Amino acid sequence: MTEAVPEGKATSASRTTLSSIMTAAETNLLGTVHGGVIMKLVDDAAGAVAGRHSGGPAVTASMDEMVFLEPVHVGDLVHVKAQCNWTGRTSMEIGVRVLAERWNESTPATQVGSAYLVFAAVDDAGKPRMVPPVVPESDRDRRRFQEAEIRRTHRLARRRAIRELRERRLSEGYED
Ligand SMILES: CC(C)(COP(=O)(O)OP(=O)(O)OC[C@H]1O[C@@H](n2cnc3c(N)ncnc32)[C@H](O)[C@@H]1OP(=O)(O)O)[C@@H](O)C(=O)NCCC(=O)NCCS
Repeated sequence: MTEAVPEGKATSASRTTLSSIMTAAETNLLGTVHGGVIMKLVDDAAGAVAGRHSGGPAVTASMDEMVFLEPVHVGDLVHVKAQCNWTGRTSMEIGVRVLAERWNESTPATQVGSAYLVFAAVDDAGKPRMVPPVVPESDRDRRRFQEAEIRRTHRLARRRAIRELRERRLSEGYED
């Protein structure tokens, strides 16, 4: 019997913002906020979106194109904004933008980073389960959906090409 595809869900139903003030405990040797701290916030916000969209547990399958545009400082209020850009059968691409409100400036928040993560929705046994198709609502959501499809095509092609290269090298007698 084939599984029924869950009903579609609008992008706005799972869009999430996670905000936190950066502290001195989160700095690197240069005194700015450690990139890994920002990556954790990105993963947390994306995970919240994936859980909301899929209506249950979801795990990070990949994180790519993590870009740090500007340093984040102690005292800055960081906003991590995440939304479901695209859905496949059991996976979702979550797009994340990181903004910082500078503690010592009265300027609008500046974008300091961005990333794309793929989450897989899983069942109690950790096996992938079907997700509701995302329903983009605005022109921006539709553009993000189309761009996510391009990234998906490239991810799959890259994985396939690397697997084929490794198989070919093995058949040629290379050990690694
Ligand atoms: C992610 C995971 C559930 C995939 O399981 P799997 O048995 O390989 O299942 P599948 O191959 O059917 O993949 C499931 C979906 O994830 C996608 N996917 C799997 N690995 C992926 C990767 N590296 N990049 C992008 N997408 C990926 C597949 O394309 C598929 O999507 P679709 O159903 O929408 O087409 C499994 O690898 C896992 O549990 N990984 C550990 C996750 C984890 O612990 N994360 C936290 C890290 S600390």
